[in-house]
Amino acid sequence: MATADNKRAKSLSSSEMSRLSTLCSDAVGVLREIFQEIGNGMIPAAEPLMDRVRALARAALKDPASLLQLDPTRDDDGYTFRHSVSVGLLALALAASLGHEAEQVAQCGLAGFLHDIGKTRVALCILDKPGKLSGDEVLEMQKHPEYGAEIVRGMAGVPASVVEAVLAHHVRFDRTGYPESARTLCLGVPCAVVAVADFYNATTTLRTYQRPMLRDEAVEALRRARGTVLDGHIVEGFLELTDGGA
Ligand SMILES: [Fe+2]
Repeated sequence: MATADNKRAKSLSSSEMSRLSTLCSDAVGVLREIFQEIGNGMIPAAEPLMDRVRALARAALKDPASLLQLDPTRDDDGYTFRHSVSVGLLALALAASLGHEAEQVAQCGLAGFLHDIGKTRVALCILDKPGKLSGDEVLEMQKHPEYGAEIVRGMAGVPASVVEAVLAHHVRFDRTGYPESARTLCLGVPCAVVAVADFYNATTTLRTYQRPMLRDEAVEALRRARGTVLDGHIVEGFLELTDGGA
């Protein structure tokens, strides 16, 4: 999928980088409102977020790695929100570096930003529990893709491929994983791209129950996951994108 144009991607100038940083903060502000509204039981429209994600996708196509330099989150953002922002930016950069066209890149980004939105319906005592979850707690946690798909299906302006990615981002490349009902779906690019971005960010981030992997350990884990958990072609693209980066 990588194209000659993509290989010749230019670095953004400092003024372009400054505009990108402002755009990203604006997009993340809209995403923060969406998380809050959904947490309060509302189902907001996605168009204002998607407009901004399309603009981020255009910047990603010019310089994919520039997205990895942004950190638009705040100290008071929770883990799930910060993780969602990171996965959205990684997904935009990865899809662009793989040579996908602008709308596909934007759909990968939106899927990354919203992939764990279903966790807003999982009790905080489970989400934030230090240590091992009980069997029932694991089952409840594993419902977050279905909760998320139900939410994004109701949001005006969410493409079908994004609903699918929210539902199936824990279905593995070898068609194990959850939810079982999604294993037989024909899964598209946003789902496969988000799975790689999610895997990397989850392994390299400090959690209550896990120390973050060092980059070398995470790269090794990604390599081991090729063809079983993750799509090997997309992992290769990620390793090329983040060589010396993320
Ligand atoms: Fe998830």
